[in-house]
Amino acid sequence: MEVDSPSPPRQDSHLPWIEKYRPSGLEEVVAQEHIVSTLKRFINQKQLPHLLFYGPPGTGKTSTALACCRALYGPTFGSMVLELNASDERGIATVRDRIVSFASTSSVSFRSATADRVGFKMVILDEADAMTNIAQAALRRIIEKYTKHVRFVLICNYAARLIPALQSRCTRMRFGPLGLEKVSDRVKEIAALENVRMTPCGLQALLRLTHGDMRRALNILQAAHASVSDEADPSTSGGTDTGAVNATAIYQTTGHPHPDDVELAFKWLLNEDYVGTISRLEDLTRNKGIALQDLVREIHPLVPLLDIPKEARIFLLDQLSELEYSLAQGCSEHLQIGFLVGFFQECRLVISRFVAPAASS
Ligand SMILES: Nc1ncnc2c1ncn2[C@@H]1O[C@H](COP(=O)(O)OP(=O)(O)OP(=O)(O)O)[C@@H](O)[C@H]1O
Ligand SMILES: [Mg+2]
Repeated sequence: MEVDSPSPPRQDSHLPWIEKYRPSGLEEVVAQEHIVSTLKRFINQKQLPHLLFYGPPGTGKTSTALACCRALYGPTFGSMVLELNASDERGIATVRDRIVSFASTSSVSFRSATADRVGFKMVILDEADAMTNIAQAALRRIIEKYTKHVRFVLICNYAARLIPALQSRCTRMRFGPLGLEKVSDRVKEIAALENVRMTPCGLQALLRLTHGDMRRALNILQAAHASVSDEADPSTSGGTDTGAVNATAIYQTTGHPHPDDVELAFKWLLNEDYVGTISRLEDLTRNKGIALQDLVREIHPLVPLLDIPKEARIFLLDQLSELEYSLAQGCSEHLQIGFLVGFFQECRLVISRFVAPAASS
């Protein structure tokens, strides 16, 4: 699908950009071409099966469900669509009461709509994977009972968390992570509409951190833009691009380690002594507000590239994953920095004993 130009800037300037630029129609949904074209076909025929949208966050599931309902119902959207967030209202009471009362009521607009337009109402059940199993089992019956007049769109991140009986009642549509090019195009369009200047390195850094999540991309863009507009400090932009969102602004606003800092930390681990490396790493994480967990994740892909014996690489990767696990459990960063430096020292020591020259480079 071509990347359609986004809607002109909306009046609601106070809204976060993720809401301001939420696709209002199916043609504004970026990527997910196959899903959009299938839905358009269903809409043209004014018929829809029960749907299950699943996939990682920020890929357009909720937006697509809403856009689909808008295309079906237009101005009668309000009376024909029930939106529920199952993570707020996941009990059996919600399934029975709210859905049943909506599903069994035929509003005036519903009756008049059946003749010329759409003969069913829609229930959007967002974050359905947060529903209890009992509620899911109840929903299974309700879906069957009201199928004549109601279609369900179940939305979740993990389809496997839905009971098989629910999955089999719906047509499954997987929303994959958005491709870099699609995110890049959309970010550039929104940056132009919001008068955000971005350096090419800034865009690259942003894309590197989004992992196909458009919500994350727009949130980072807005935060980084706010940080450079507030400060407009020539020192953060190298003196040439004051007020532009550059890589430094992106890394600073997200608190993610800058690649230069990762490289530096890696060099220390491979070459410096134990005590010196600990204090340098502590200074780095403290002064730049970097989480050790993020640093470890960035160091991880550098290890396989090291020109050292295979066993040593495996040892380092093993220890890094152990360290990541400990950090995720909430262990002290201070102690874990000691552990990180310790196993790199151990590895260097073993290599220097058995292999010459030493692995540090
Ligand atoms: N495919 C897309 N095309 C255009 N914008 C998108 C797309 N996906 C996400 N966005 C942007 O990200 C915001 C969040 O999207 P949405 O709520 O649809 O994500 P989701 O897939 O439902 O995520 P979650 O699983 O976290 O609920 C939207 O308001 C929109 O600005
Ligand atoms: Mg959603």
